[in-house]
Amino acid sequence: MTGSSDPLFNPLAYPLHVSQGRDIRAGHLRGCWLEFADLVQTTLTEDRVFMQAIEAARSRGSLLSDQKLGNLFLVLRYAMAADAPIFEFGSYRGGSAVFMASIFKSLARTSRVYAFDTFEGMPITDAVRDLHSEGDFHDADLGGLREFIASHDLGDHLSVIQGRFDETLPDVLTGGVSPGVLHIDCDIYEPIKYVIRTCAPHMRDGGHIILDDPLHGSCLGAFDAVQEVLVREMALTAEQAYPHLVYRYPPLRAD
Ligand SMILES: C[S@@+](CC[C@H](N)C(=O)[O-])C[C@H]1O[C@@H](n2cnc3c(N)ncnc32)[C@H](O)[C@@H]1O
Repeated sequence: MTGSSDPLFNPLAYPLHVSQGRDIRAGHLRGCWLEFADLVQTTLTEDRVFMQAIEAARSRGSLLSDQKLGNLFLVLRYAMAADAPIFEFGSYRGGSAVFMASIFKSLARTSRVYAFDTFEGMPITDAVRDLHSEGDFHDADLGGLREFIASHDLGDHLSVIQGRFDETLPDVLTGGVSPGVLHIDCDIYEPIKYVIRTCAPHMRDGGHIILDDPLHGSCLGAFDAVQEVLVREMALTAEQAYPHLVYRYPPLRAD
């Protein structure tokens, strides 16, 4: 069903079809082939860059499914600007962050992942909207993550930013870093609203906002944040709904 000659695997072919500010064809292809054509097992396992990155993610430990790692791979390798920074909000043990950094290292790109987390567990959560509680994910093992980054020579592609997002993000943005991708995997309502509103004015043209959590049964607070900020405030239309909810910001312009 897929092949390396397909536009999905040709960075020069993007955007594939712009409609309502998003690349609807890219969202369809990634989503359908990951969900219905077993793209990870049939195609991506043949890709050395993907396999090295997934090995890094699994050995450090990630909560992301193979399908979600496959989707991140397709966006990073083919659909985003080659030098754009990634901001990850919610890194925990660092699995998805080392996955993305490993891709950039293998491809000899200059991109860097900024991994934002307390690395000491969740802050206070919304008692009504969120099922997660303060202190969940407290066993992140930041020392182990730093050792992993050093021993796998990922330091040129991965920066650890420790602290609550509202304490750390303003300094990174003031330093002039403009994200090309937001990978938001922090599960809870208020921080998701905060990072989208704060990052949006700084995002590069063609930016992707990739949300891990809103379609999970335990993360209605994350979906509330999406509906409130991305849908009602920013009037965005989703590019993809499986395995991630993906939006584009600034919205793409049709030629
Ligand atoms: C589901 S885990 C991330 C999983 C990770 N991406 C992986 O590859 O396994 C969610 C993380 O979000 C972090 N988090 C949630 N809200 C935060 C906030 N306001 N500031 C910093 N970290 C936060 C938690 O500490 C937790 O480690």
